[in-house]
Amino acid sequence: MKFIAIVASLVALVSSSKNGSPLCYYDDQTMQQGMGSPSALGYSIKVSKVGTSYNLQLVNTDQTAVYQGILLFVTTPGGTDAHLGNFTNFDTKKFKSVDPSFCSNDGVSGLATATITHSNPSNYVVGSGTNFTWTPNAGDFANGNLSLTAVVAAFTNSVPSGIPTWQHLADTVVPK
Ligand SMILES: *[C@@H]1O[C@H](CO)[C@@H](O)[C@H](O)[C@H]1NC(C)=O
Ligand SMILES: *[C@@H]1O[C@H](CO)[C@@H](O)[C@H](O)[C@H]1NC(C)=O
Ligand SMILES: *[C@@H]1O[C@H](CO)[C@@H](O)[C@H](O)[C@H]1NC(C)=O
Repeated sequence: MKFIAIVASLVALVSSSKNGSPLCYYDDQTMQQGMGSPSALGYSIKVSKVGTSYNLQLVNTDQTAVYQGILLFVTTPGGTDAHLGNFTNFDTKKFKSVDPSFCSNDGVSGLATATITHSNPSNYVVGSGTNFTWTPNAGDFANGNLSLTAVVAAFTNSVPSGIPTWQHLADTVVPK
């Protein structure tokens, strides 16, 4: 079920930046089938704990990378079926939650605000002020640290094909 949904929506993740991703779930193999090999686009996410929430800062070291799309969520390490916590305090001109109906179609549980994607068709360079607040639900850390998954699609001079490429960011720990 998940697999079929991904195949159908892969192209949408990168090319229909207008509406955000209809994809609630990430699969490396299917992503490669749809978009070719990933590229090191220079994106990473810095996680810092602020009270009972976390500040997630999207940073980018490739100044030629022009951001196109994103998928962002927190799970248990290696987990796929439950997206944990909720995202707040992000720029709603650029980002939004993935439609909850896409998530339930993909077999992913979680709050409506547990999976983030892009909301804006414009290309832009992601600056260091691109932050999200993530707040766990009670019990999310019961088994220890959690894991942040992020996939970014972008144009970059290092892949001058005129089509966007993509990066699965290094797995990032959200510490208990
Ligand atoms: C989302 O997180 C905020 C904290 O930033 C919290 O106040 C709110 O209750 C959460 N929403 C849901 C639906 O749990
Ligand atoms: C984003 O987070 C970083 C790291 O915590 C912080 O230095 C920066 O001021 C934040 N930017 C905004 C716009 O809040
Ligand atoms: C949890 O994350 C923290 C910070 O990255 C790390 O120091 C710690 O070793 C991790 N704990 C486990 C059990 O992996």
